[in-house]
Amino acid sequence: MQGSANLNLMIKAARKAGRSLVKDFREVENLQVSAKGPGDFVSKADREAERIIKEELMGGRPSYGWLGEETGETAGEDPTRRWIVDPLDGTTNFLHGLPHWSVSIALEHKGQIVSAVIFDPAKDELYWAEKGAGAWMNDKRLRVSGRRNMIEAIFATGVPFGGRGTLPATLQDLARLMPVCAGVRRWGSAALDLAYVAAGRYDGYWERGINAWDIAAGMLLVREAGGFVSGIREDDDPLEKGAVICGNEGLFEPFRKIIRGE
Ligand code: IPD
Repeated sequence: MQGSANLNLMIKAARKAGRSLVKDFREVENLQVSAKGPGDFVSKADREAERIIKEELMGGRPSYGWLGEETGETAGEDPTRRWIVDPLDGTTNFLHGLPHWSVSIALEHKGQIVSAVIFDPAKDELYWAEKGAGAWMNDKRLRVSGRRNMIEAIFATGVPFGGRGTLPATLQDLARLMPVCAGVRRWGSAALDLAYVAAGRYDGYWERGINAWDIAAGMLLVREAGGFVSGIREDDDPLEKGAVICGNEGLFEPFRKIIRGE
């Protein structure tokens, strides 16, 4: 795997956090049956994973800024670069012993994501991309799907915890989309939803009410795999507006029209 020094640092951090999460994930299954339940334990696992990632990344690049799900935002001496990190995307799956969750790390430079790593330790799938250098899963080059017919296509979506006000709009999206496609999945890790679009497993993904740390790395993966990503409204930046849509070349436009209700 040939990547920049920054990418190698990100991969090292993701693998280290992944090892810690896998250990905790085994424990979660035992905790399911205890009276207290695994809730507190999982948030500790989440915080520990972010601590590990922050130590690696900020230790290696102390001047960069930071945005992490657990520890929030810190400006760096270098205002042009910032790490965007979700140490455990798919927390609810993790809590329920479902092996579908990931570590997501992105590097932003002058407002653009330039390097991305998403690690799915349960399946040993490491997704990575660098701007202009393509998208990869382990050592396999990724390419979005080539499907052209909506009726053969599968899409993914998510609903934020508690709906966060976006549920009615998402239900309307589903009512328009489901009759004209092959299916819609809601697997519970936005980072993996995007990685699966990059890998050609899903033909597209959209979500309303999403955070920057859930989607920053995946957006670069999709673009580097030949797909398209935007806000749901034309000029919106998904990282700022919290709504994202993506798909392969052939289906992105018709899919986006359906989601916009056009
Ligand atoms: C959640 C997952 C889920 C998405 C939610 C996110 P978390 O992230 O990505 O798929 O639908 O909007 O909040 O909380 O597990 O890091």
